[in-house]
Amino acid sequence: MKKQAFDEVANSYDDIFSHSAVGKLQINRVYHFLKKLLDQKKKLSILELNCGTGRDAIWLAQQGHKVLATDISTGMVETAIHRVEEENLSGSISVQQCSIQHISQIEGKQKFDLVFSNFGGLNCLDEYNLRSSASAIDFLLKPGGHFVAVIMGTFCFWESFYFLAKLAPKKAFRRWNKEGIEASLGNGQSIKTWYYSPKQFYSFYKDYFKFTEVQPIGIGIPPSYLDQAFINKKRILKVLLSFEKMMENKPLAARSSDHYLLCMTKQSD
Ligand SMILES: C[S@@+](CC[C@H](N)C(=O)[O-])C[C@H]1O[C@@H](n2cnc3c(N)ncnc32)[C@H](O)[C@@H]1O
Repeated sequence: MKKQAFDEVANSYDDIFSHSAVGKLQINRVYHFLKKLLDQKKKLSILELNCGTGRDAIWLAQQGHKVLATDISTGMVETAIHRVEEENLSGSISVQQCSIQHISQIEGKQKFDLVFSNFGGLNCLDEYNLRSSASAIDFLLKPGGHFVAVIMGTFCFWESFYFLAKLAPKKAFRRWNKEGIEASLGNGQSIKTWYYSPKQFYSFYKDYFKFTEVQPIGIGIPPSYLDQAFINKKRILKVLLSFEKMMENKPLAARSSDHYLLCMTKQSD
C-alpha cells in the first residue's frame, strides 16, 4: 500500500491527541455515549473503521466486546497490533490493514452489531467515497445494527473564536471550503480533509440508515490543538466540561462543535 501521511505520525499520535488533557475529555464523551448505546451484557461484534493506534478497540474489548479494527495506514496498524499485544487482548481484537473504500473486502464473512468510526477518519474521504461507503457499511451490519461516526463539522465555535482573535480569518473559517483543505498533522505532514455538517453527512447515508441521534463532541471542550493553552487550567476545563454535558442533547450545539457524534441505525431489510 502507498505510504500514508498518518504513517509518519503513528508513533506520536497518542502523545499529541489521546493522552492530552483536552483529547481525553473529548474521548470520554464518546465513551459515555457508547456505554449508553451498547448492551453491556452481550458480547457484541464491532467493526472499527480508521482505528488509528487501537485506543478505542482496546477500550471496546475491555467492555467485553469483540473488535475487528481496520485502518489504511501501515504505521497505525503496526502501532495498534503492538498495543493490542501489550494489553493481552489478541483474543478479542483483530487488526487488519484496510481502507474504508475497500471495507467490503475485509477477510471473514462476519456481520457486525456496530460499525464505528472515531475522530475524523471519515473526514479524509470526499463526498463520492462517503456515498460509496454507505452500501458497504449497510451490508456489513446485522439487522438493527448501528453506525456511529464522529466527524469534524463545518463550523467550530472554538476554532473561529481562536483564529479570529489571532487575526487569521482564513483559518477561522477554513472548514467552509467545499473543495477540502490540507490539514496539518504535525511532523510536517498534512492530509486532505473535507468537513461536513451533520445534515450533509447524514444525507450520504440516509437511503440505508435511520437517523438516531446527534451529539456535540467539543462544544465546551476545546479542540486538542489548544491543549497547551489549558495545561494549568484544570478548573476552567472542569467548567467547560460541565457546559459540554449540559449541551449533550442539543442538536444545535452539534453544528458548532469541534466534532459531532452521529448515530444511525440500519433500516430493516
Ligand atoms: C484523526 S485519525 C483518528 C484515529 C482514531 N480513530 C482516533 O480516534 O484516534 C484518522 C485515522 O484515519 C485513518 N484513515 C485516513 N484515511 C483512511 C481511509 N481512507 N481508510 C481507512 N482509514 C483511513 C488514518 O490512517 C488515521 O489512523
